[in-house]
Amino acid sequence: MTTDTHQGAAAAPLSAATLERFAREVAKYPSTPTGRQSAVMACLTIVQQDEGSVSLQRERDVAAYLGMAPIAVHEVTTFYNMYNQRPVGKFKLNVCTNLPCQLRDGQHALAHLEKKLGIHMGETTPDGLFTLQQSECLGACADSPVMLVNDRTMCSFMSDDKLDQLVDGLRASAEGKAP
Ligand code: FES
Repeated sequence: MTTDTHQGAAAAPLSAATLERFAREVAKYPSTPTGRQSAVMACLTIVQQDEGSVSLQRERDVAAYLGMAPIAVHEVTTFYNMYNQRPVGKFKLNVCTNLPCQLRDGQHALAHLEKKLGIHMGETTPDGLFTLQQSECLGACADSPVMLVNDRTMCSFMSDDKLDQLVDGLRASAEGKAP
């Protein structure tokens, strides 16, 4: 049986180390109620670094710490898709399917990955290695199809062959094999 902390089941309180990091972020802004709230994105990022995702309970924890309404924090986590609202695989693949990329095989790239990984968009492979998502514009429309791996590594001109090489290489690296 698993505990779904995303739905708000009991979670351990934030650690002293996490609260210390929160305080360092808050100190960067004016010491007013609204100034304190300016640290919301940084605090959510810290939670995600520590726990891999931001559960509803953690949104409430951050809201309480910053003196914000929980819904205001939820609006932040749901607006920016770099925040994981549920646990994700070791490799998070975000394929841009916004309109300019739609016109240049973005949707095809997503469909190819769905077929190769045997999952649908939004799902994680049973081995926990890959989570497949679509994303809004990544600011590289001329390089379509484009995708982002683990929120940091941009991949351009992703033909079917390049997608296959990427997935095979990531899988090999996770298994400790040379790519
Ligand atoms: Fe895909 Fe801009 S629409 S990168």
